[in-house]
Amino acid sequence: MRKLYIGTNTKMYKSIAQTRSFLQELGERTAGLDRRELELFVIPSFTALETAGRIAAGYAIRLGAQNMAWEDAGQLTGEISPVMLEEVGVTVAEIGHSERRHILGETDELLNRKVRAAHRHGMTALLCIGETEAQKEHGIANEVLRIQLKEGLHNVAPEAAPLIWIAYEPVWAIGTSGKPAGAAYAEEKHRVIHNTLRELFGTAAQDIPVLYGGSVNAGNAAELIGMPHVDGLFIGRSAWEAARFADIIRSVLPVFRQKGHEA
Ligand code: PGA
Repeated sequence: MRKLYIGTNTKMYKSIAQTRSFLQELGERTAGLDRRELELFVIPSFTALETAGRIAAGYAIRLGAQNMAWEDAGQLTGEISPVMLEEVGVTVAEIGHSERRHILGETDELLNRKVRAAHRHGMTALLCIGETEAQKEHGIANEVLRIQLKEGLHNVAPEAAPLIWIAYEPVWAIGTSGKPAGAAYAEEKHRVIHNTLRELFGTAAQDIPVLYGGSVNAGNAAELIGMPHVDGLFIGRSAWEAARFADIIRSVLPVFRQKGHEA
């Protein structure tokens, strides 16, 4: 059975106490949902991971980290290694969020090292990609996405495909000044991404989910999930209140099931 992938990255917003109550409420509100069809994940701040891990495990919520170092240990002051993340129950490493690429200067080459580090530890690499507004206007969005995929997944073998999730997050769509991509535009880019993954991994690519992120909200979530190549949602602001997040999840599940019947 194909799964619907839905998760949130709480960025640099929630304290330990806030993460705890958010996860507890989200866990309660989604406890009845069948996890054979839903992969639910939450990516809190590093300081909240240990607490979050204990709660998330009880509700079948996957725990992610917002960033990760590419070495297991070393002279890398300020970095957090995959070994340390494993210790607190992290199974998903978010790699290359737009804010890390554009504010913190992370390159495709560095992100590739992080992807491979995640795989060495059996962790899922959630690789985030997306074009800027200027790249979209210059008509090179597809090229940018293809480069980010080919660089970010360089030297990753098809056997590692089950440990890859992709988040397509156009930079111009993210955050308070973002405007969401229309469903047709998202579908077109997801198709480019799926095709590129097929070039890289052959048939192993068919199980790699491609999630859309960037100003997802209660008003556009269902239409996005209705698109044939959109396999999930990666949500920021609209997911940070557990009740609103759970409502979005419940609203898209029937659309996802319907899509499965039509496929
Ligand atoms: P947003 O964030 O939903 O608040 O636009 C998305 C993201 O940064 O992943």
